[in-house]
Amino acid sequence: MRWRAGCRSSACGQSTHPAKSLQLRASIAFVWHKQGYPPGELRTKRPVRAVLPIQHSVFQYACHHASELNMPSSSYRHLLTLKDMSRNRIEALLQRSEWMQTQTSDGKSLRERLKGRTVINLFFEPSTRTRSSFQLAAQRLGAHVLNFDASISSIRKGETVLDTFLNLQAMGADLFVIRVAESGALEDIRTHLKPQVRLINAGDGRAAHPTQGLLDMLTIRQHKGEDFSALKVLLVGDIKHSRVARSDLHALQALGAGEIRVCGPASLMPDPHELQGCTYVACLDEALQDIDVVMMLRLQRERMEEGLIASLEDYHSAFGLTPNRLKRARPDAIVTHPGPMNRGVEISDSVADGPQSVILQQVSNGVAVRMAVMDTLVNDRTWTTS
Ligand code: CP
Repeated sequence: MRWRAGCRSSACGQSTHPAKSLQLRASIAFVWHKQGYPPGELRTKRPVRAVLPIQHSVFQYACHHASELNMPSSSYRHLLTLKDMSRNRIEALLQRSEWMQTQTSDGKSLRERLKGRTVINLFFEPSTRTRSSFQLAAQRLGAHVLNFDASISSIRKGETVLDTFLNLQAMGADLFVIRVAESGALEDIRTHLKPQVRLINAGDGRAAHPTQGLLDMLTIRQHKGEDFSALKVLLVGDIKHSRVARSDLHALQALGAGEIRVCGPASLMPDPHELQGCTYVACLDEALQDIDVVMMLRLQRERMEEGLIASLEDYHSAFGLTPNRLKRARPDAIVTHPGPMNRGVEISDSVADGPQSVILQQVSNGVAVRMAVMDTLVNDRTWTTS
């Protein structure tokens, strides 16, 4: 029996329900949450003297997490993709991110969470937002951080990515944050991790950028609420080369977005199986009609073969988001962009800097999301062992 089916129904109250076995842990979690620990964290190590009576809401909390116990045991020690991640897990990470944002004013308790741990930021591709926000997030949680700079490393003498990783792992690290140019390369690195070491994908080729997907969802949720079922979301641009688009699509589908449209030149669309559940609309003016969230994507010229677009001017005139075009979306529509932006190509200055843009809010949210992900992987035993 799938536990989730039980906990969503009136079976919740039946004594034979398997999630009943989590009653005690849920009560403990409730106590810990009251004491200032993040939502979703189920701890069993410390003795808890005061266990509150089981209330319906607490029991539902247990059921909610019990559903995750059906997941394979090693899937969640690391964060490599949002593909196949359940709605419950994504929402738990978003809740923990929001909790992090409520804690940052004094930050003292947060600095205990990764105290004594070492986080290595290993970026083999350029980055402004992701690398800096992982660094800040790790520091705010009390970790030691090493920022590896590939441009002045022995990579330049021909050392491989895997050898570089193995050498840094040998120096002692608890968590690696890695960005690589090759899609799927982190699967190979994962097989070489020591058992206690955690791995987060900070972007691999065109495959996945899971923390960007999460921070995008957090930003949408802050403007549009937790229920995505009535939302019309549009992704515009170079979806074929975009790891951000792939992670956004996985997350939007998991969260039950009402309608997902994609728009861009046919030459920049991925294989149709990657767009299952989406509607392709070739004309941007048409695609924008009644949209709640416009997710603009960067034209990835560094990953693009010649000839996929006629010229940057042509691209802007067909697919660039301008204030006039944006009027076709809902009046309260928000505009996102993962950065870095090609201003005047996929987005005009007046939209990027305009009142509907939430682009800098995405960047702020990136710190909280990365704190939540690192904290969860290192500290939340329920998450990693379930
Ligand atoms: N959004 C994003 O990944 O930006 P950076 O390449 O600057 O990290």
